[in-house]
Amino acid sequence: NEWTRKLRYHPYEKWGKDYRDQLNKTVNQSIWRLDYHIQPVTGLLNDPNGFTFFNGKWHLFYQFYPFGPVHGLKSWFHLTSANLVDWKEEGIRLLPDSLYDSHGVYSGSALAIDDQLLLAYTGNVRNADWERSTYQLGAYMDKKHQINKVETPLVSGPPKGYTTNFRDPQVIFYQDHYLMIIGAQTTEEKGEILLYKSKDLKDWQFLGPLNFTQQSLGFMVECPNLIFIDQQAVLIFCPQGLGKNELSYQNIYPNTYVIGQSFDERNRTIEHTSPIHNLDSGFDLYATQAFNAPDGRALSISWIGLPELSYPTDQEGWAHCLSIVKELKIKDGQLLQQPVAEQKNLRYKKTALLGDIQNIQNLMANNETNRYELNLNLQEDSRGSLYLFADSDNSHYLALHFDAVHGKIELDRKQLRYPLNKDFGQTRDVTLENHQSIDLQIFADQSVCEIFVNQGRYVFTTRVFPETHDTEIFLAGTTGAYTGDFWILRSAR
Ligand code: FRU
Repeated sequence: NEWTRKLRYHPYEKWGKDYRDQLNKTVNQSIWRLDYHIQPVTGLLNDPNGFTFFNGKWHLFYQFYPFGPVHGLKSWFHLTSANLVDWKEEGIRLLPDSLYDSHGVYSGSALAIDDQLLLAYTGNVRNADWERSTYQLGAYMDKKHQINKVETPLVSGPPKGYTTNFRDPQVIFYQDHYLMIIGAQTTEEKGEILLYKSKDLKDWQFLGPLNFTQQSLGFMVECPNLIFIDQQAVLIFCPQGLGKNELSYQNIYPNTYVIGQSFDERNRTIEHTSPIHNLDSGFDLYATQAFNAPDGRALSISWIGLPELSYPTDQEGWAHCLSIVKELKIKDGQLLQQPVAEQKNLRYKKTALLGDIQNIQNLMANNETNRYELNLNLQEDSRGSLYLFADSDNSHYLALHFDAVHGKIELDRKQLRYPLNKDFGQTRDVTLENHQSIDLQIFADQSVCEIFVNQGRYVFTTRVFPETHDTEIFLAGTTGAYTGDFWILRSAR
């Protein structure tokens, strides 16, 4: 069927049971369903929302369109977890059912306040001429997951000088009051992040744009997050249309960050910030949501998918997934992204690895599943390639080329069984120090792969769509040696 606008905005309750049953069936037959990543029950998942700790559990929501693999009428789907790896699907919790969110419950954040969880989100509204209005809205969820929407907007529409591309509020508690940051676009179509302040979460005062860079931020900024790590301010955001002279990137839109030495609220300034960096070095990551958890960790989770791109599961009635949860740290002034410690919970069966890098070898003979963690330390003279999701004669695969001598790593999708979004390039690379050993921590899960390099100094995130038997792992090269561990992971379903 054709996904006309009318169909995308067809009211939820009007989709018939037969349609939904058929969709469920199609989705469940997909060989690309994931075993430990969060995926949509059916239809499309995009941004993670409301990631927080509340009432003794982790809570997470995702942007959800249930009826097909397209961006339609959005709601929030709710999950809870005791350990950040086993997630329980709680169901749809925020529906587009009010005057202020009739055309989509868009992205936002959550903040625990006494015994309630405040959900702050954007309500998207279209009029008969399909002109947009946006509101920053609130809802309170109690311990039984009952939700009450706040009747009037926290912020009604953009301030003067800004368009209705105004969304994705993050509310944080700061000193003795609350701050909200919102992605915005000026009437001259420049991206900005706007800062609001409130004492009581009801009355929100517009302070102005957040100053954090001299670089220009493209035409719109989505999904801003301000977090603090060791007193430093880390701002994560998605600048759409960012100039390639500002940052080298190949994805349609980058997900980026800056690290600042401090945050000066009075001047709305993040001070002494780094240049804008890519958060991920791979192909498919966007809309990261990060927060300061009550246990002291800074945690993040991302959408693995990008706006405006298509993927093979579109044929199967579902699209996209979330990343594993990462812990963010700063070391020697640099951001590190590491899998949360709880990720070890999934480890099930271990094989120790050790050998030289020469010719081509099957690294894990008889490997039968793309559900594993592979940790490899490549000695400082190593040069070669690792082939993942490979078929038995190694003609289709996802390749990671490494050269420790010249300090280079390249992720290469040229030999995928099903090519993906070729227009945006088929390789991604990063530069490391010369003559240093390279540390890889690789998570494979059926149709997704996340590769952490050198304790999280870089992360490459990519989708990959193999056939069921494409589970071989080959290692080829000319010089060097490796040690490592291979773990089959258990399913989190
Ligand atoms: C980012 C985004 C957000 C918006 C949401 C709508 O992917 O465009 O800016 O709130 O998706 O689903």
